[in-house]
Amino acid sequence: MADSRERVGELRAEAEAAIAAAPDAAALEELRVRYLGRRAELTQILRGIGELPAEQRGPVGAAANAAREALEELLARRRAALEGGELERRLAEDAVDVTLPGIPPVAVGHLHLLKQTRREIEDIFVGLGYRVMEGPEVEYDYYNFTALNHPPSHPARLTQDSFYVDPETLPDGILNEDGLPPGPKDVLFRTHTSPMQVRAMEAAAPPIFIVVPGTAYRRDTLDATHSPMFHQVEGLAVADGISLADLAGTLEEFARAMFGPERKTRLKPDFFPFTEPSVQVDVSCFACGGDGTLPDGSRDPLCKGTGWIEILGAGMVDPNVFGFVAERGYDPGRTQGFAFGMGIERIGMLKHGIPDLRIFFENDVRFLEQFA
Ligand code: PHE
Repeated sequence: MADSRERVGELRAEAEAAIAAAPDAAALEELRVRYLGRRAELTQILRGIGELPAEQRGPVGAAANAAREALEELLARRRAALEGGELERRLAEDAVDVTLPGIPPVAVGHLHLLKQTRREIEDIFVGLGYRVMEGPEVEYDYYNFTALNHPPSHPARLTQDSFYVDPETLPDGILNEDGLPPGPKDVLFRTHTSPMQVRAMEAAAPPIFIVVPGTAYRRDTLDATHSPMFHQVEGLAVADGISLADLAGTLEEFARAMFGPERKTRLKPDFFPFTEPSVQVDVSCFACGGDGTLPDGSRDPLCKGTGWIEILGAGMVDPNVFGFVAERGYDPGRTQGFAFGMGIERIGMLKHGIPDLRIFFENDVRFLEQFA
């Protein structure tokens, strides 16, 4: 039937135009269904060929099959072209311009005041030529006490009685200084950072200039000025001819860098088993300026009217301590050095007028954010 052939020609032309104009893969799929799907007119024509008069079957069948093949091929080519185009378009759209300025990061927080204070102390001593070292918080009695000139029955041990570690809970192979499995009082949470004096000297011959920040533990109750867990910075300087005058000068430099250039320091006698002589270092009060009274004439509560504030303990390294590291080149008869230890909380409280030590550990953001 001439009609059928004509209709095939029309459908083919219509489909060709539509395929050429299809904007994307989805539109193309719709056209495939419309022109070549099971219910498509062309498909119906192909199915109905058997019912046509015999002389028409050949020409109509040939035209319909040719149209079908041509459209299938066209669809495939158009699909490939669109996919290629889509890829290119997406590549172009997604291109990252690495020269664009970044989005400023959202502030996520800041260092805790204790960490800031610790870094400030470290920086001051690094500026004086010291190195920063850290050491274990779980420590042998030997380093915490014995090698710091606290013989086993020394009463000063009691004032720093601490948290002992049950030897059952220690990893296998840990031995005490006598090479024996540790007993119930051989391993403890360090009560100060001073054990690192001995460890540092075991590790290196003199001269040595180190500061050791870290956590210490004592069996204290928690109150406004005590905490069973607190932080210290230890200092150790050992070199030829070091004297108490060097200690005084170094700590005065520290006090001025920390609390202001007007500060004065004074040394008072004190006692520590591992220093001889031992001193307490006071800094002139930065609230009243050192005379103990506030501008309105009232007694300065910070220094309790004395004009001085205690900031740390220190002294010349006791020769008995050098005796424990003599084979490392520390001659108890000749070597001189000084050591000091300060509480980081105390320094931070003094500097920022913080009345209660517990506030450091409460993590109340109203406190923390004041030190952003
Ligand atoms: N370790 C002492 C304490 O915790 C402080 C100190 C350190 C004193 C070094 C003298 C020398 O109280």
